[in-house]
Amino acid sequence: MSHTEASNNNKDYSQLEPIEKASIDELRSLQLQRMRKTLEHAYNNSPFYKAQFDEAGILPSDLKELNDLAKFPFTTKSDLRDNYPFGMFASPMDEVVRIHASSGTTGKPTVVGYTQNDIDTWADVVARSIRAAGGSRKDMLHVAYGYGLFTGGLGAHYGAERLGCTVIPMSGGQTEKQVQLIKDFNPNIIMVTPSYMLNLADEMERQGIDPHQLNLRVGIFGAEPWTDAMRKNLEQRLGIDALDIYGLSEVMGPGVAMECLETKDGPTIWEDHFYPEIIDPETGEVLPDGEEGELVFTSLTKEALPIIRYRTRDLTRLLPGTARPMRRMDKITGRSDDMLIIRGVNVFPSQIEEQILALATLSPHYLLELSRVGNLDTLQVDVESCEPLDEQASAVIAKKLQGRIKTMVGISTKVKIFLPETLPRSEGKAKRVIDKR
Ligand code: DLL
Repeated sequence: MSHTEASNNNKDYSQLEPIEKASIDELRSLQLQRMRKTLEHAYNNSPFYKAQFDEAGILPSDLKELNDLAKFPFTTKSDLRDNYPFGMFASPMDEVVRIHASSGTTGKPTVVGYTQNDIDTWADVVARSIRAAGGSRKDMLHVAYGYGLFTGGLGAHYGAERLGCTVIPMSGGQTEKQVQLIKDFNPNIIMVTPSYMLNLADEMERQGIDPHQLNLRVGIFGAEPWTDAMRKNLEQRLGIDALDIYGLSEVMGPGVAMECLETKDGPTIWEDHFYPEIIDPETGEVLPDGEEGELVFTSLTKEALPIIRYRTRDLTRLLPGTARPMRRMDKITGRSDDMLIIRGVNVFPSQIEEQILALATLSPHYLLELSRVGNLDTLQVDVESCEPLDEQASAVIAKKLQGRIKTMVGISTKVKIFLPETLPRSEGKAKRVIDKR
């Protein structure tokens, strides 16, 4: 089949797909069938997986039921790095039609590959995600996720096109121009990181644009953790519904899970393509649904880079389905490697964000600076006020925030209030923590 034929399928994207309405039994049986196939494909075509399974003394045929997956070894980011760039691929390069990569904080990027079928599946799940946000072919959709090696831009783009939206492929950056185009084209949906959306909202204000007068109806925000407090802030400020989209390049890109407009209660995992587990990050033991731990994914349909039990490092829990029978994930509270340990207390940036946003005088622009004074870790919270404050007012609000963090999070902090628009802005994923230790 040629590439064009493969992508010209006859699906009706205005309706829920049958699998989105299927019973749990039907879903589990599809998952088992696809999981077996994926394990076989990985074992037979990727020397990496063959070696991993052989070492663990396990064969794809040992998977009799879904729970047997727990017997298979985990895959980690360092496995991808060790096999840089293409060593884990299970399809010959002439079938690989796309490469993406995500830059980590250290060393080489993690490289991922897609066959034409993978690209099609990805476009399908993103189209499904935009539809879950109330989008349709009638909508104009502005993509402000970065295009390029990052999966955000192109992932959103192909999904939006598949749904039939009118796509504005803006990418990240050029904030002033972004806002001008939003004003002139008047899209209904925007896909962007929540931190860059804040930046865009500030720019709208600067240009004298009232976001409530625009046609923007829905924001599809992801690629970084954000809290429910941030959701309220964005919704009120922009007059939109703010919905959470989750994904990671190793598993596919955006669209692994998406929050449904009618419930707004955490992203529904598209379980017909991605099988989730929650494990205890210390012991690797699988935890029951409802318990918080590290999210692990196994791809069920991917060809070029089947991913078996990938440890995402993202912390969350699995919840029963609501808008769809498929399970949901709770909002990501943080990454196990994002966790700050301050004098023995585990702290996630999201907990501080919640406290900042509880105070109306403070803006959502903040930065956490970690340093060591003597043997003690100290955390300084840098945050902008919404309006310029004098010294006295700053001191009062700083003390208030300090008090809230102490009571609610359990740590002592230094708080420094900054004038509006003085902290660095993000054009993609925000960098919230500066570790000076
Ligand atoms: O960030 C893919 C993506 C693009 C998702 C656009 C959503 C929208 P990576 O660059 O590989 O891929 O980073 C993946 O980002 O493991 C999480 O830690 C974080 N992340 C992604 N979505 C969310 C979210 C893309 N909705 C890493 N909430 C993941 C919290 C998220 N964290």
